[in-house]
Amino acid sequence: MYNIIFVGAPGAGKGTQASTVAQKLNLVHISSGDLFRQALAQGTELGKQVKAYLEKGVLVPDRITIQMVMERLSAPDAEKGIILDGFPRNLPQAEALESALAQQGKAIDKVVYIEVAEAELLSRLSNRRLCRRCQAVYNMVNSPPSIEGKCDKCGGELYQRPDDEPETVKKRLDVYFAETAPLIAYYRRQGKLVEVAGEGGVAEVTRRIVSALREEKLVTR
Ligand code: AP5
Ligand code: MG
Repeated sequence: MYNIIFVGAPGAGKGTQASTVAQKLNLVHISSGDLFRQALAQGTELGKQVKAYLEKGVLVPDRITIQMVMERLSAPDAEKGIILDGFPRNLPQAEALESALAQQGKAIDKVVYIEVAEAELLSRLSNRRLCRRCQAVYNMVNSPPSIEGKCDKCGGELYQRPDDEPETVKKRLDVYFAETAPLIAYYRRQGKLVEVAGEGGVAEVTRRIVSALREEKLVTR
């Protein structure tokens, strides 16, 4: 049972890699961004509260985000271990997570930092498409679906995230460098950081992550 965080800039491949690695290691993939987008799509009270923040590309207030993630973490399936993608995103969130896990006698085992150069991030985000139904991630250049506009996994309709517009991407990158990047040094100081080069094919990056976790003795197979 392991608790792992994936950290990296917008477009680094957190969602793509977290979903594959979670399957391989039998962990639950929890993405704060996916949870917000689901709430938006369902028009729930949470969705209404967070809409403007997502559209602007700024962080949702900690109070809302922490409560949502903690609720998800308390679901029974999270007992088998988790990969957190997109959370924590600043120091207060990291501290809230730490104390919530500590109360259950748990801790974060490793933090995988996926590193990608800025020009590559911009190109990936402008070509990204998502499945409306199952949130699977595609790229029109690197990993297009077999049938245009349709999800290979569930047949759902593919769409472009509104926050992948160039202006909003720029804002999200600024927010990342100002508020989230300091977590890298924070987890390095704790001896938990595992740095992985995020460029190259998707399968290649997956291999790097799994082998880095193996070196850290988190993966034995
Ligand atoms: P969130 O959904 O978390 O977005 P993000 O951090 O900006 O990250 P992305 O999802 O854009 O990138 P990713 O790293 O997952 O890349 P992906 O795998 O898709 O957050 C959205 C918003 O929600 C925030 O702006 C904020 O408002 C709110 N929010 C979320 N969490 C919050 C929190 N904790 N606190 C406060 N607010 C929060 O890949 C990108 C593209 O690249 C895809 O097209 C993919 O196919 C392609 N690709 C992936 N890997 C490769 C590869 N190796 N080679 C080539 N292409 C690749
Ligand atoms: Mg993502």
